[in-house]
Amino acid sequence: MLEGKYRHRFHIQPPEGWLNDPNGSCWFDGKYHIFFQYTPDSPTGEGGRYWGHYVSEDLAHFTYVDTPIVTDTEWDSDGVYSGTAYTGDGVLEAYYTGNVKHPGDYDYINEGRGHNVLRVDFKDGIHPGEKQLLLTNDDYPSDLSCHVRDPKVWKSGEAYYMLLGMRSRTSKGGLLLMKSPDRKKWSLAREYFPENDFGYMLECPDYFTVDGRQFVGFCPQGMRHESDRFQNTYESGYCELNGDIIGSASDEELSRQISIECFQEWDKGFDFYAPQTFTTPDGRQILIGWAGVPDAGYENAPTIAEGWQHSMTLLRELKAKNGKLYQLPVRELDTRHEKQITAPEGGAWDMTLEFDNVSDAELFRLNDDLIFSVKDGRLRLEFLNDTGDGRTVRHAESSPVKKIRLIFDRSLLEIFVNDGETVFTTRYYPEDPDDVILKADNAKSLEGWTIV
Ligand code: FRU
Repeated sequence: MLEGKYRHRFHIQPPEGWLNDPNGSCWFDGKYHIFFQYTPDSPTGEGGRYWGHYVSEDLAHFTYVDTPIVTDTEWDSDGVYSGTAYTGDGVLEAYYTGNVKHPGDYDYINEGRGHNVLRVDFKDGIHPGEKQLLLTNDDYPSDLSCHVRDPKVWKSGEAYYMLLGMRSRTSKGGLLLMKSPDRKKWSLAREYFPENDFGYMLECPDYFTVDGRQFVGFCPQGMRHESDRFQNTYESGYCELNGDIIGSASDEELSRQISIECFQEWDKGFDFYAPQTFTTPDGRQILIGWAGVPDAGYENAPTIAEGWQHSMTLLRELKAKNGKLYQLPVRELDTRHEKQITAPEGGAWDMTLEFDNVSDAELFRLNDDLIFSVKDGRLRLEFLNDTGDGRTVRHAESSPVKKIRLIFDRSLLEIFVNDGETVFTTRYYPEDPDDVILKADNAKSLEGWTIV
């Protein structure tokens, strides 16, 4: 593991080099597994794209294992891309996209690229078996471009389903549903393009249940930016479904549910993308995201100088409340609390600030680097200098603010407003992570913990 002043203490980070999406997150045989998109060769992502692997027994401490899936076949020669795990049959089965770039003068959108679905079984959760090729572009409808990727697999009734993100040949983003009786032979179940303009591509789809309600998640690329919504280069969020995506809802009904009006962004900060969910043995639905965005337009020069870039967000438990999903760190994080504090200390901390239902106030300030405030029911996160390395300002609509939980891990900040109603994730590079001054004059109480 690398060292450096901005390295994290309790977030999943690459041992060295580059990390992007979480993959195959699951609980299997007594352990939690988080795989991830990993390029160990360089902090800027050039080189082979593999799956790295972390395991945990307690959801609080994660240990790096190795890179169990690498680019060693003709089906995934140019990248072991994102995917998920299915664990229903006593084996951890990883499903992922094998990326292939054929040499030649191609646009690599409609020609020249292969996006295959492969499966690898981990019988003991650690050691991969043989790769099996399940699907190639020939198995997808002919109106699709080469971009069909990021499988999510689940069981419903007696059948198995796989949801993929896709881009049509005319550059419209959509979702592709495949069906199988045995998780080996897959056939087309549904090709679905939302009526609203979600842009040219949907990446990293998810399909999950929280508190008995059904949701579909995805990451649209090419949406129109608004002043309080869709402020990042690419977005990531979810829609609640009344029917189900498997077959009972008509395209028309589905388009009412999967619409821009109903689409809720997971996170309003600068650094959040490609999340996925999994279920704990006690039934909690957990979200983990990549604390980064592709092609973001702002940088992470301070960590690149240390030989690494990007990390995961905290693991967040989801609760369905007031028509949306609330997110709070899993309670297991509390086992890493060390010393009770009333001001930040030691570069890794978890502070809670309470307010009197304010809707027009500065909420907190860190050094003279960044301000978090609310005005006319609108939250605002603003960097005042280059400690955001190019990050400027982000907004979100909000109800009056009662509570903020602020978690800092040396260069990553997660802000949970009103018990997880709204969340902002951002990289933040203070000059000295061990000496960050938190000013919150409008808070009526302020207390927290250092984290080890
Ligand atoms: C999302 C993504 C996925 C793809 C992976 C490649 O960030 O573009 O769609 O599978 O990254 O690393």
